[in-house]
Amino acid sequence: MQQVDVIVIGAGAAGMMCAAEAGKRGRSVVVIEHARAPGEKIRISGGGRCNFTNLNAGPANYISENPRFCISALRRFTQHDFITLVDRHGIAWHEKTLGQLFCDGSSQQIIDLLVKEMTRRGAELRLATPVSGIDRDADGFTVALPGGAVRCSSVVVASGGLSIPKMGATGLAYDIARQFGIGIVPTRPALVPLTFDHAMLERLKPLAGVAVDAASVRCGKTRFDEALLFTHRGLSGPAILQISSYWKPGEEVAVSLLPGTDVFGELRAARAANGRQAPHTALAALLPKRLAQAITDREGIAGNIADLSDKRLRQIEGAINDWRIVPAGTEGYRTAEVTAGGIDTNGLDSRTMQARTVPGLFFIGEAVDVTGWLGGFNFQWAWSSGWSAGQAA
Ligand code: FDA
Repeated sequence: MQQVDVIVIGAGAAGMMCAAEAGKRGRSVVVIEHARAPGEKIRISGGGRCNFTNLNAGPANYISENPRFCISALRRFTQHDFITLVDRHGIAWHEKTLGQLFCDGSSQQIIDLLVKEMTRRGAELRLATPVSGIDRDADGFTVALPGGAVRCSSVVVASGGLSIPKMGATGLAYDIARQFGIGIVPTRPALVPLTFDHAMLERLKPLAGVAVDAASVRCGKTRFDEALLFTHRGLSGPAILQISSYWKPGEEVAVSLLPGTDVFGELRAARAANGRQAPHTALAALLPKRLAQAITDREGIAGNIADLSDKRLRQIEGAINDWRIVPAGTEGYRTAEVTAGGIDTNGLDSRTMQARTVPGLFFIGEAVDVTGWLGGFNFQWAWSSGWSAGQAA
């Protein structure tokens, strides 16, 4: 039976980073991947350009039952460390917005970087290889594979979360956690579009495709100011994806379509300047035309703007800047960029990602209950947690 030091399950962002680091320490490493190519999620990320980190990444950008858990790994391998690695590979990059760094070329460059880093350290990559089971005895682990079992002293579970099942996502990490008695925080789709109920969808369907560049979206005490998009199913766009990670079924989401704009004042000025214009025409100076029309239709407002009292203008302002919705749900794992929840961090050492009760077993990346905001934070968690495990596995 083949014997190695480390088996990494999953050739994604976290697994490949970990394999490279463990290899650097002289550990013999095999990376098991059931897909036919490594880093498939990296390939499709950031619209094909991979938003590989964020200049401002810090613990505040992550959601977890234990918000302090990510601090150690994020400090040990920072966004600047990853940028140094990217620069060493001669990959050109740019900041798009809000500290988000993208490749100038293609996300394949990041995959190539990781494959090079791990293979030049001797790590072996086995593609199209599903893991059928893991056993543990006093001497280590046995990982069952189609070509025969492999023995190792450390297993690093880097098999990701449940998002985008058609790309090969599986619940393997949770199965392994259950097998070894490690807790799991209930999972849910995150960074995912929100959906409307049937009645609301019928009313808002004509708005599909309409975007608002700078909306403000709030759920409880959490607020994001970014773009918003009406879809065939509900709402999407960065502001909605961000808030979706905080939203729980039944909760209300408050939307401001023109945050910081004195809508009442603007409408009064429009009424004084040209009282014969339709209210939606006046609104179209502030919002996309279709949206302006839908808002006045929904509020039952017609005629000339001169006919509207201040109270009616306030009503329009409320509809624009304090729109309250209770989403019917989310689009689910089918389109979610990440899985929130996962391996309970109480069961892991925050410096090494090793299971407290199972020496030699590590969990890293998206499988763990650490979920980043949109904007390169999830890859940074994959690099930081993968690097940390790579120092110890
Ligand atoms: P990841 O899912 O990358 O890797 C897990 C690997 O394990 C996969 O290769 C999988 O095939 C393999 N595997 C699963 N089950 C297995 C089994 N049973 N046996 C063997 N192998 C198995 N983040 C970001 O920071 N910037 C961005 O631009 C984007 N963009 C983006 C776009 C889209 C469309 C999605 C879906 C997601 C993003 N993300 C993102 C999120 C980011 O892709 C995600 O957080 C990381 O890929 C997580 O890295 P992991 O290595 O933990 O899992």
